[in-house]
Amino acid sequence: MTPAQIGHVRRSFALVAPIAPQAAALFYDNLFTADPNLRRLFQGNMAQQGDRLMNMIAAAVELLEEPDALLPALRKLGTRHVNYGVRDEHYATVGAALLKTLKRGLGEAYTDDVHAAWVALYGVVSKTMMDAARNAPAAQAA
Ligand code: HEM
Repeated sequence: MTPAQIGHVRRSFALVAPIAPQAAALFYDNLFTADPNLRRLFQGNMAQQGDRLMNMIAAAVELLEEPDALLPALRKLGTRHVNYGVRDEHYATVGAALLKTLKRGLGEAYTDDVHAAWVALYGVVSKTMMDAARNAPAAQAA
């Protein structure tokens, strides 16, 4: 990601952070509307799950310039997602739901540049997670 994209992601996420619980709820609403089958993968409390998701995005946004810290955490997260029943094709659905949520939450602040910056961020995050999932030990992937 370019420094300008990192700036766009940080500034726009700062606008969403104060409404994180609502943004998370809207995200899951968008996600389960896009693919109702995904609902069954989530077994925990959805408010708590929403918190974790927003915290992880916040951590990624913080650590964009520290790949040595960010990438290992994302690899572990990707491996854990294999055990949650998550498959490669789900990442596109989640990415689309995330962008839709940001667009709605940010309103006019969701410019083309902001959109492109989030596409880049989600690309890095999801690719790192999927690569790790593919290389997960067979027992975990089964
Ligand atoms: C940018 C990509 C993603 C991020 C940052 C993310 C983040 C997280 C976090 C932080 C957790 C909490 C548990 C843990 O840390 O292991 C979690 C759990 C989970 N995620 Fe994701 N996730 C992503 C992509 C996906 C995708 C593509 C799916 C597919 C639908 C998914 C489905 C789940 C499920 C089913 C759980 C477990 C829920 C439960 O325990 O009931 N995630 N995710």
